[in-house]
Amino acid sequence: MTAEWNPSSWRERPAQQQPVWPDESATDAVLKTLNGYPPLVFAGESRNLLSELGRVAQGEAFLLQAGDCAESFDAFNATSIRERLKLILQMAVVLTYSAGVPVVKVGRIAGQYAKPRSSNTELVDGVELPSFRGHIVNDPAPTASARIPDPNRLIDAYHRSASTLNLLRAFTKGGFADMNRVHAWNQEFVASSAEGARYEALAGQIDRALRFMAACGIDTTSVPRLHEVDFYTSHEALVLGYEEALTRQDSLTGDWYDCSAHMVWIGERTRGLDDAHIEFFRGIHNPIGCKVGPTATVEEVLGLCEALNPERVPGRLTLISRMGADKVRDHLPPILGAVRDAGHPVVWACDPMHGNTFTSQGGRKTRHFDAILDEIRGFFEAHAGVGTWPGGVHVELTSDDVTECLGGAERLGDSDLGLRYETICDPRLNGRQSLDLAFEVAELLRR
Ligand code: PEP
Ligand code: CO
Repeated sequence: MTAEWNPSSWRERPAQQQPVWPDESATDAVLKTLNGYPPLVFAGESRNLLSELGRVAQGEAFLLQAGDCAESFDAFNATSIRERLKLILQMAVVLTYSAGVPVVKVGRIAGQYAKPRSSNTELVDGVELPSFRGHIVNDPAPTASARIPDPNRLIDAYHRSASTLNLLRAFTKGGFADMNRVHAWNQEFVASSAEGARYEALAGQIDRALRFMAACGIDTTSVPRLHEVDFYTSHEALVLGYEEALTRQDSLTGDWYDCSAHMVWIGERTRGLDDAHIEFFRGIHNPIGCKVGPTATVEEVLGLCEALNPERVPGRLTLISRMGADKVRDHLPPILGAVRDAGHPVVWACDPMHGNTFTSQGGRKTRHFDAILDEIRGFFEAHAGVGTWPGGVHVELTSDDVTECLGGAERLGDSDLGLRYETICDPRLNGRQSLDLAFEVAELLRR
């Protein structure tokens, strides 16, 4: 690594997974416009998240990072934002109350618009088309013209991220996330299910605890912690031109921050040590993540730690393990031990989704709920064996009653997938499966 860094120094490196924009000058004009727009987040907020993640790295808190695989420009409305937030708040309450650990809440939201793809083309109904790369790049409609990257989408993604973030701030600071409203976060279709009933029971206990505190003379109305939550945004910072345009120098510290989100992460396909993403990420001061898949070697992971967090700041780097249920128990422990022995205070999070994707008999991309839970169990076992802290989970979900992942309490089978398969990229847990997962994780944490 060269010592010199600036927001565009990544341009000297090979950049994987970048859109091939048809008109370079039009793209440059868009990036220049974006560079003049206000930042979406304030650097001080990213520093707060860094310190919260520092507590996770020390084993004193747990990270819940969750949201859509690929946010859709078509699902850009208040209901969709509110329902996703409600579900994440519900999961966080389950984890906090059942396991008794503080939960750091980070959404894959307000900017999760770019998708890496394993192939440049994909087959849609027998026709080979350029791959859909997320709504920030192109349109998923199955025509060649829809798939042409359009730089105006970068501006569109910025505005949609800003509005989403605005509503999230309003909800989380304006009374919606008040502990006295825990019952109201339960959605109708979930409330009638076993998981929903389990949640209702837990919410009832929280009510009683709040009444108990009030009866003891504790003025709960004056405790801000009970009435608002800190909720942070994150996405895969894939399209580097966009991220560079939103990277700003903090006036308080002089440090550079990628102000497109509080936290950004590097995907499994773009974590090459000499590549552009590592170069960009090493210079920004946000808390950052990096996916670690089954092909990662101990040397590679140590290289990532050294490149991305040479000063060993706790909470700066979250390693997101996504090994697959069948590999996590073998592959993860040596990496956990080596990272610990090298003195790197990372947050370890488990993404139990991306290593467990397969094509169903009916031809749909899916994941089985059992494999997802099994990977999480394997992740906890690996940490227990090595003596490290299983710091968090990273999941793809939607609050909607979709049928994209198999299994769960509803025992969704192959033939159910067609009922409501709505994702524009990977299969997501639905509301019930997500809540179920939160109870399972809480159980593992308690042990
Ligand atoms: C993702 O998180 O949506 C993703 C593409 O993951 P990965 O980079 O781990 O494949
Ligand atoms: Co995904």
